[in-house]
Amino acid sequence: MSEQTSIQNLFNRTSLNESSTVKVPGKLFITGEYAILFPKQPAIIIAVDQFLTAQVTASDLPEGGVIRTNLSELGPLNYVRQDGNFQVSANTASGWHYCINAIRVTESLLKSLKVPLLNYNIQFNSELINKDGLKFGLGSSGAIVVATIKGILAYHGVQALDHVTIFKLAAIALTLSKSNGSLADIATITTGGWVYYQSFDREWLKEMVHANTPVASLLLMNWPDLVIESLNVPEELSLLIGWTQSPASTENLVGQLLERSNPSDDVFKSFLKSAMTSVERMRSGFQAKNLASIQDEIQVYRQLLLELSRTYQLNIETKELTQFIETALPHSYIAKSSGAGGGDCGIAIGHQDIETETLIKEWESGDIVALPLQVTPPFSTETT
Ligand code: PMV
Ligand code: MG
Repeated sequence: MSEQTSIQNLFNRTSLNESSTVKVPGKLFITGEYAILFPKQPAIIIAVDQFLTAQVTASDLPEGGVIRTNLSELGPLNYVRQDGNFQVSANTASGWHYCINAIRVTESLLKSLKVPLLNYNIQFNSELINKDGLKFGLGSSGAIVVATIKGILAYHGVQALDHVTIFKLAAIALTLSKSNGSLADIATITTGGWVYYQSFDREWLKEMVHANTPVASLLLMNWPDLVIESLNVPEELSLLIGWTQSPASTENLVGQLLERSNPSDDVFKSFLKSAMTSVERMRSGFQAKNLASIQDEIQVYRQLLLELSRTYQLNIETKELTQFIETALPHSYIAKSSGAGGGDCGIAIGHQDIETETLIKEWESGDIVALPLQVTPPFSTETT
């Protein structure tokens, strides 16, 4: 089969609409953070029902369009299309780079699919921030990339048949944007629900992207070690999310770890090994629908993060997060920080029959706000 016919096989063609609206969820780490930055390491992450929406509509401008967002710091982005190519002025705000790279990757794919490019406007609306513009730590750069890709494809009447195709497009866009994240967030917000993700070799992708490998060819390749799987959850499992009200910078914390550690140090190797064992045991806990073993591994991973923080002087579990975790324990909810820590959110897992009103009141008499979020169901391919 030629590459041209097989790239077509990854997509469905739907009718063109006057506008398309796509919704991308927020995400939170359950376990495996930090270790997931390294190849073959696993993590478990959830998609939550706080959304970033992208609405794509026809542009009135003869040769270009406008992209807007309610993320307060970013003004509108004007683009023009010259000889069919998407172009923005050189002094564009750096906050738009994720979106711009997502557009470039998507348009390059549309060209390979021989789909004529339309001029469009995009309006983003994010619920991943509160009314004062404060981030909850549910993700935003990854969500912008995925919303851009899905929105533009839908507007052109193109639908991916598999979530992994959208994951790969987003991973290429983020690599072009020089993101050094694990991409666990992308795996989760393209799949929905509870997700098991195993890191692929991101150095391989970097080399492929820098060698200008066409997007369509990358979509047709198997990516080394990539695993994305939906997990089934024990029915009695209840998840609570606590927000510390203080936004944290993943980039700073990851930067500190990478600067202070050496992946070939024995201490670091031992962290990666224990992290892998614990996440794999939790995955087995999901497969066996064993709530107690899932809770045990939350506790194990919390200890691993505390050790990592001590070794490399990282403030992962802030005093607010410790308060969140210790308040939960007497109520039989097992808790830990989520993601990079340093603020943002914590997660707590318990049995659905346990009364939680008192626990939530205790949290709220401190600094913790319980966020009324639900895990989304896994997405069907119709919503890819
Ligand atoms: O705090 P968050 O939700 O951005 O999670 C960061 C998790 C890390 O493993 C520390 C980094 C990453 O890219 O996975
Ligand atoms: Mg965070």
